[in-house]
Amino acid sequence: MGKKIFSGVQPTGNLHLGNYLGAIKNFVDLNNDDDNKCIFCVVDLHAITIKQDPKELKNNIRETVATFIASGIDPKKSIIFNQSGVAAHAEGAWILSCVARMGWLNRMTQFKEKAGKDKEKASIGLYSYPVLMAADILLYDATHVPVGDDQKQHLELCRDIAQKFNNDFEVENFLQVPEPLIQKEFSRIMSLKDGSKKMSKSDLSDSSRINLTDDKDQIINKIKKAKTDSLPMPKNIKELDERLEAKNLLGIYSSLNNSTLENSVKNFAGKNFSQFKEKLADELVHKIEPISNEIKKLLEDKSHLDEILLDGVEKANSIASKKIERIKEIVGF
Ligand code: TYM
Repeated sequence: MGKKIFSGVQPTGNLHLGNYLGAIKNFVDLNNDDDNKCIFCVVDLHAITIKQDPKELKNNIRETVATFIASGIDPKKSIIFNQSGVAAHAEGAWILSCVARMGWLNRMTQFKEKAGKDKEKASIGLYSYPVLMAADILLYDATHVPVGDDQKQHLELCRDIAQKFNNDFEVENFLQVPEPLIQKEFSRIMSLKDGSKKMSKSDLSDSSRINLTDDKDQIINKIKKAKTDSLPMPKNIKELDERLEAKNLLGIYSSLNNSTLENSVKNFAGKNFSQFKEKLADELVHKIEPISNEIKKLLEDKSHLDEILLDGVEKANSIASKKIERIKEIVGF
């Protein structure tokens, strides 16, 4: 049976290889299956939980749409829209924030990481961010949510909120409890500078990540400079437990090739890192360069991207506004 897919990406600039391999690549596969109904959201309300420059935000919203399309999502088959265009997201988030418990949110590790040492200075939005994410998903009765591993805890929270709403208001199965779609391998791409840290948009070092807008030379240079250890390439999977950088690079290689980590380890066992890095850079250029070129081309026609968003907002709104009306009735408004 076809799946109802919903997922979101923050328009905070520097979309990178982690976003691509952890999430967007799966969006494309799901979009290509005609049985699925897919909705991909540029989550601009989430973006402002951390201060954004308004002009840059506007550009980043368009760049995220361009990245979706350049990666292979077809806006005729899937709904692509920005979250702030559909009022039901903010309304739904408020109602669900009265269902979610403080204790549940206090457990969220991403808030702790993002807020850092000075929690008092974090925005309230950053704290309640997973509730907005739950509203995003639940408004569309999504059955499956493709994300990278770092979003797993937020999806568990979304399931808890849906179940509590259904129980509290005695509306069995009204909010669809969604299943996460997280790949078994390669669901967490790590920094090129530190195999224990997630590849991230906010890392100050640009060489820690491959941006989806990087050109061929940038990709080759970043892979050349990527951290490794001084041993030859690992001979077996077990060695990877202690060689995080090798594990990450081999993981990226395998994911690009749709191959298993085991096979990639076998292919390069005992060789020099430089030989492997050359092959890895080739694979990356082959995959990322066309996406990067297409993003640049699409960004030349801003009004085309705006039209796609407007069309998406209209379609998303026609689904979400019905659901929020029912939610309001159930709550007693
Ligand atoms: P965001 O914008 O941080 O990331 C977008 C997607 O990319 C994945 N990702 C990674 N995957 C593997 N390795 C990495 N290093 C890596 N970095 C990022 C993320 O897991 C995510 O799938 N809260 C979400 C956006 C969101 C959302 C939603 C997602 C808002 N509403 C509803 C699903 C459903 C976020 O900040 O993703």
